[in-house]
Amino acid sequence: MQLPKIPDTPVVLQMLNWIFRPMAYMEECRQRYGDIFALKLQKNSPPLVFVNHPDDLEQILSHDTKELEAPGDLNDLFEGLLGKSSVITLSGTEHQRQRQLLMPPLHGERMRHYSQIIHDITAKVISQYPQGQSFNVRTISQEITLRVIMQAVFGLDEGVRAKKLQQLLGEILENGSSVWLITLLYFPALQRDFGPIKIWGRQGQLQEEADQLIYDEIQERREHPDASRTDILSLLMDAKDAAGQPMTDVELRDELITLLTAGHETTATAIAWAMYWIHKLPQVKEKLLQELDSLGDNPDPTTIYKLPYLSAVCVETLRIYPVGMLTFARRVKTPITVGGCELAPGTPIVGSIYLTHQREDLYPQPKQFKPERFLERQFSPYEYLPFGGGARRCIGLAFAQWEMKLAIAKILTMRELELVNNTEVKPQRRGLVTGPDHPIQMVIKSQRQIKSRSLETSTVG
Ligand code: HEM
Repeated sequence: MQLPKIPDTPVVLQMLNWIFRPMAYMEECRQRYGDIFALKLQKNSPPLVFVNHPDDLEQILSHDTKELEAPGDLNDLFEGLLGKSSVITLSGTEHQRQRQLLMPPLHGERMRHYSQIIHDITAKVISQYPQGQSFNVRTISQEITLRVIMQAVFGLDEGVRAKKLQQLLGEILENGSSVWLITLLYFPALQRDFGPIKIWGRQGQLQEEADQLIYDEIQERREHPDASRTDILSLLMDAKDAAGQPMTDVELRDELITLLTAGHETTATAIAWAMYWIHKLPQVKEKLLQELDSLGDNPDPTTIYKLPYLSAVCVETLRIYPVGMLTFARRVKTPITVGGCELAPGTPIVGSIYLTHQREDLYPQPKQFKPERFLERQFSPYEYLPFGGGARRCIGLAFAQWEMKLAIAKILTMRELELVNNTEVKPQRRGLVTGPDHPIQMVIKSQRQIKSRSLETSTVG
């Protein structure tokens, strides 16, 4: 029986490589061991198997009920922040029930409703920056996505509670993206407050404050119901499961914090990368501006959403440096052969989205940013999978795609921007996802007058 190959280095070295240089390490392992390999990342758990061949991905992602399962207990790294009732940490029928409750407000149909929010908030945020001022593009994209998700989830943008919650979430996620916090997660023995390492305790304190604000908001809604509200919290408070039961306050809290955290950092990073590539490659920017300008004043959001070149730029952005490096882990239920290797029940297995997107046989010259590849051919859901697949496929996929396209279109039509310098930016770990290895500094050169003027005057507040 052939098993997936595992590096013969000590466990602690495998863990450190995985924490500090996950993408380079995966590439080295694929080169050395082939399309399927395993890493020993925790002392008392079985090695984690990595696959990246589209056939193997199809096998692991489309067999969620028979040979493989997608249990929430494999995501227990998230439990501290998201809670036990989050869709990410739940398993089986409970997981399916929560997905069914959460999907309708995030469905493609609802996106027209959120497009005005995305449009207005992007305009407000970008207008805060005067000509000549340089800024980290991630600061802007993060403010846009945090305010948009707050508005979509709670119907809140302005107001004391909204501002406080935005500030707390910003800080929680910034701390969570520290590689040291991830090290603490992999080395649980270090999870104490000692010496200068106060980050763990501070994180708990911030979370408690954020939780209190969320519970206050739920309480207020229960005391003063308002049937005209259309935000996700209101929809979830009205939702009932098959047995006619509404969600409890704890379930509501866990799902709201899940949407707020999963829904803003990821999309903020994707927008920041897109802005980097657009301004790094003049031919990409020129083509994109031509396409956007051809729409005239006040284009319909659906028309923007369907623009072929804008879509190709966004898709290529999530291919070259996918924000989520991996799918969530699946676990083998009955003996199964994947990629020529026998896997025993209990084996955890992940799809390496990063390695799949770097496959030379699918994407020639994979390190080059070429939106045209998506105009020239179609890719299967197992060749291109920035949002994962199967039972745990990202429920915010439509939301993220709309937000990326509308925010980028709005920024580019409002302002002429350029990169402050031409330094190459590479991806690195940011907590459990990835992001730029240093700030992408940009500067506003001028206002763009063409065609976007009437949009600006109507929305900048
Ligand atoms: C560019 C932005 C985003 C990227 C790249 C991304 C990527 C992913 C990936 C790779 C997964 C794991 C899928 C799997 O294991 O098969 C996932 C799951 C998830 N995403 Fe996203 N995501 C993004 C935006 C969002 C947004 C905007 C939301 C919510 C509004 C969201 C909510 C979730 C949730 C709740 C799950 C867990 C689903 C489950 O366990 O059933 N994501 N996402």
